[in-house]
Amino acid sequence: MSVVNAKEIMVEAAKHKYAIGAFNVTNIHQMEAVVEAAVEKNSPLIIQTSVKPSKVLGRQVMVAVYRTLAEAAPIPICLHLDHCTDMDYCKKCADAGYTNIMIDASKQTYDENIRQTKEVVDYCHSVGDISVEGELGTVSGVEDQIKVAEDEAALANPVQAVEFVERTGVDIFAPAIGTAHGVYKTKNPKIDFERMGKIHQMLNGNGIKVPLVVHGGTGLPEDYIKKLIEMGGAKFNVSTELKHILIDATYTYIADHRDEYDPGKIDAAARDAIRHAVGHWIDMLGSAGKA
Ligand code: 13P
Repeated sequence: MSVVNAKEIMVEAAKHKYAIGAFNVTNIHQMEAVVEAAVEKNSPLIIQTSVKPSKVLGRQVMVAVYRTLAEAAPIPICLHLDHCTDMDYCKKCADAGYTNIMIDASKQTYDENIRQTKEVVDYCHSVGDISVEGELGTVSGVEDQIKVAEDEAALANPVQAVEFVERTGVDIFAPAIGTAHGVYKTKNPKIDFERMGKIHQMLNGNGIKVPLVVHGGTGLPEDYIKKLIEMGGAKFNVSTELKHILIDATYTYIADHRDEYDPGKIDAAARDAIRHAVGHWIDMLGSAGKA
């Protein structure tokens, strides 16, 4: 009952000016930690896996754990496949039970991006209640195996954005607006808020049809987050921060307990740290109490 796709919870978020945290996980403990945090805050949730962890653990395992946790949780939860450049793997994850799929053909030409995105949209809509995320323009930095240099990154053109959405039938849309994957090199990254607002207005001015996604959540200042929500951001992706927290918490625990050989305690320390960080994100995004 609490298994949902991304679009349905994001439409509500965009209508009421809050956003949903989409947290990348690489293992089952992290998945449990983000669910615990969202349940504590009574918030809707998007769990994301990049392609690599999905292949390492196996998509069926990811889906089985997700479904077990989501069905027991009193909140709506989506499982999203993040930045997949391979149409076949997108389809396999849709078949396995992911409830949102991101086909990332943003490095292709505009027409090829449309072709691939539409093919995945048509497939996902034919097999179930699965929403699809497409990206236009490119987000700089590194996510999973995909690297985009800063000087290769291109922002989304608003007129093309409308055409892209119409021609692909995509459910949720990630326009490149200057956010980046990884740790920002400056305290005040250059984000094109106006472009985000314009795209939102053009797509959703007469009612929310295609909610917008903000990539590169790690390190975004809180006032930027609030402004991006105001401009239509309904899903914020957070990955690098959680990876750092997992590794730092694990390292600190081991360093402080050098004579202990209890893996469960190491996992618990990492889980607590992630739960805490996710809770903070949920507060910043305003989704607490919205489940
Ligand atoms: P960060 O790694 O910068 O948090 O970005 C995550 C992201 O956008 C995943 O799609």
